[in-house]
Amino acid sequence: MTSPAKLPHRPRPIIAPRLHHATFLTLKLDEMVAWYEKVCGLTPTFYSEIGAWLTNDAANHRLALVAHPAIKKAVDKPISHGHHHTAFEYESFQSWLDNYVRLRDEGIVPFMSIDHGLTMSLYYADPEGNGVEIQVDNFGDWAASTQWQWGSREFAENPIGNFFDPDKIVAAAEAGLSFNEIHNNAYAGGYLPEKPPADILLPEAY
Ligand SMILES: [Fe+2]
Repeated sequence: MTSPAKLPHRPRPIIAPRLHHATFLTLKLDEMVAWYEKVCGLTPTFYSEIGAWLTNDAANHRLALVAHPAIKKAVDKPISHGHHHTAFEYESFQSWLDNYVRLRDEGIVPFMSIDHGLTMSLYYADPEGNGVEIQVDNFGDWAASTQWQWGSREFAENPIGNFFDPDKIVAAAEAGLSFNEIHNNAYAGGYLPEKPPADILLPEAY
């Protein structure tokens, strides 16, 4: 029997992903968390020295605030934080992967790809250089991924995850591996790119 993963990728129709969250870099983490709770009713689902993920509905996060130590105060700029990415989500792994192939074949490729544990995420830069994340939930269930985020030692120790090469994901799917097998391999660093991304939209991080 032919696995669905071996069927040809479907370029049309384009199945639209839904908007999921936005991420900002910040030098004022605690102040930002307090302001967004007061103004928008967002509360943390994850909160540490390097950042906080906030939500005001059933999603595991709607706003992420990253306070990475590499972030520096801007020079000649009135504000010191910045937009990192806006995220869109697919409900199915196959639709997410088909979309990657569709864009790749048009010459649009992610500048980095990460299995965060919660999601497999492709990060693109828009024409102005703003990040756009296109993700699929690794649990297929927001409640399950939120619970894992709360309770997982792995996530607490490494809330970023591991880079992957999306073409290795395509090859694994074509070889018949399940989404869960592919995610577990990617999260364990089994599909690392040849070179780590040169620019992860954290200026002066490297
Ligand atoms: Fe994100």
